[in-house]
Amino acid sequence: MAIPVAEKYIADFEKLGFGMFVHWGLYSQLGVGEWTFFSHQRKMEDYKKLADTFTAEDFDAEALVLTAKRAGCKYITLTTRHHEGFSLYDTCGLNDFDAPHSAAKRDLIREYVDACNKHGIVPFFYHTTLDWYNKDFNEDFDAYLEYLRKSVEILCKNYGKIGGLWFDGNWSKKDVDWKEDELYATIRKYQPEAIIVNNTGLLARGFVGNPEIDSVTFEQGRPTPMNREGMPKYLAAEMCETINDHWGIGNLDFNYKSPRYIIESLCACRKVGANYLMNIGPTAQGGVDPYQRELLGLVGKWMDVYGEAIYNGKPCSAIGTGKNFILKGENELYIFVYDLSQQSNENVTVDGQSCSLASFINIKEEIKSIEWMDNNEQLEFIQNDKILTVKATAYPYGMSTCVRVAKAGLK
Ligand code: GLC
Repeated sequence: MAIPVAEKYIADFEKLGFGMFVHWGLYSQLGVGEWTFFSHQRKMEDYKKLADTFTAEDFDAEALVLTAKRAGCKYITLTTRHHEGFSLYDTCGLNDFDAPHSAAKRDLIREYVDACNKHGIVPFFYHTTLDWYNKDFNEDFDAYLEYLRKSVEILCKNYGKIGGLWFDGNWSKKDVDWKEDELYATIRKYQPEAIIVNNTGLLARGFVGNPEIDSVTFEQGRPTPMNREGMPKYLAAEMCETINDHWGIGNLDFNYKSPRYIIESLCACRKVGANYLMNIGPTAQGGVDPYQRELLGLVGKWMDVYGEAIYNGKPCSAIGTGKNFILKGENELYIFVYDLSQQSNENVTVDGQSCSLASFINIKEEIKSIEWMDNNEQLEFIQNDKILTVKATAYPYGMSTCVRVAKAGLK
């Protein structure tokens, strides 16, 4: 059976490769995660008062966008409304549980989109479908769905061209008709090239849903290769992941992922052609948390050196041993090598070693030369039939980039 060809807007989404997820809302003021209303059994009459103290005084949309840009990301997905029901955008009278009616008195999504456009970052909108605030969600579901559709219509009409919509929450009611066709038709009317995602959640990673959906999701789990044979349309894939153990900020969550872990997640996604969406949770009034910014900044330094391989490389037939793998560019191969040791003097480096061998099978291309992308050192290799063995030299003293990438020029 044939593999469908990706429509251009879906292929363009795949090229974006690496994005920054942002979870920010009223809950950020409490600093205990975005599910606090539900998980800590709060009462809505108290919870909604958080809008009166939500000043957003630390929200600098450009600083947020520049954090993503520094990390090497090409897009951001921001929570325009999360399960708490509060909108960061102007709901234009649908209700007054929104940023313009809060202490902030601003349309924060307008600021976000303007900053993205200014700095060449593609804006995506996360939007909840599950709602703890709107009573209709439980009492009059059809009325709720119309409220949701009108909300999405506002987002599609009022902010210029957007990258896409990222829905989340259909997993909360499994046996109802969510009228997805109507919701997606509204999007297509105003934003025909917007990517439509509807998160299938932790328990159904990689599941394919409504035919209008453009990408499957892998929440908190590294993606498996997609089997696209016989699919009616080519679907992209995207993995999203927390930077510690929460999406919305947890003031006492110190369980941060390491730069190495994040780099390896990014590589694991690109290995199978998936995008990677790494989350940050801004502070109470919308500032970028300094530790999170610096952590992503280190990933950005890795991207400065190897980013070309992340953006240009596509999965190919080659198979490596261990975690090593190869991506194919226009006219080159990118060879990703893990776990190299460091060359140095035995008095300063533990288990130093000068090189290891990295072997791959099923290489269809004829290779002319191979060099590390970080220092342009030429590498010796043997290519025999479809087997390639590269003498992968250890890191020179002074660097250790976790995953090292070599570029192979083709004959
Ligand atoms: C889950 C959570 C939600 C979070 C989302 C991100 O579905 O309900 O809080 O926004 O994952 O993928």
